[in-house]
Amino acid sequence: VSDARPIGFFDSGVGGLTVLREVIRRLPHESTVYLGDNARAPYGPRSDEEVRAFSSECLDVLAERDVKAIVVACNTSSAVALPDLRLRYDVPVLGVVRPGATAAVLASRNRRIGVIGTNATIRSHAYFQAIKDENPFVDVAEHATPELVPLVEAGQLEGPVVDDVLRRSLAPLLESGHSIDTLLLGCTHYPLLLHAIRAIVGPDIAVVDTAASTASALASLLEVNALAAPTGVAPGHVQLTTGDVAAFRVIADRLFGESAPPVESVAAAGAA
Ligand code: DGL
Repeated sequence: VSDARPIGFFDSGVGGLTVLREVIRRLPHESTVYLGDNARAPYGPRSDEEVRAFSSECLDVLAERDVKAIVVACNTSSAVALPDLRLRYDVPVLGVVRPGATAAVLASRNRRIGVIGTNATIRSHAYFQAIKDENPFVDVAEHATPELVPLVEAGQLEGPVVDDVLRRSLAPLLESGHSIDTLLLGCTHYPLLLHAIRAIVGPDIAVVDTAASTASALASLLEVNALAAPTGVAPGHVQLTTGDVAAFRVIADRLFGESAPPVESVAAAGAA
């Protein structure tokens, strides 16, 4: 049994492309439709109500395209809106928080994990809960780092300014006596700063993101539900944005290079 319909991906903007890239690498036969709500990004500083409403409007667009499953690649939306989204759609809806939490728990040896994310993600304590569900004996230090997304959106991924912001943002976690041995990047944009983050936290702290573990969770979801794509058919990929197509393409090209799929403009109800 196979299912050639595409998998839908949703993020507030371009950051979720880091998850999409990992999925395409791991599941090369699957077709995908990615929607970035760039017109209303960032979601991180918004209220929970707004995050829930915007997320539903975007997932409606994906559902209209007859997707067989949806990955909410946005941490903020996964943290705040996932239960509502699962009520609203019949297809399986996968978030990134639980896979990310599982990966972090498996990476930590001293059971002390630091989590960074947007204000809304940290305020929800979704990562704290998910890590405790996985292993209640883990110490979780959560910390909002709202300065990082604007840097990535501006295309600033390295250099002295990035290092300064990172040092300042990570200091409360690194200097507080938490003695973390694992740092979980609880935001789609942060893997784009991985190089700079690794240089600052040093070799003794494992840096974990949600992309690889979400791709694994998606692979088993497809298998369990008999939704995997047929292997003999060339997959198709399309990327949609509610915002500026050219700006979206800059980051998509950086992540996907030559194989970057076409980017189309789309309107979500309520988005400009
Ligand atoms: N996609 C968001 C997340 O993973 C980051 C960007 C935003 O604030 O919208 O939390």
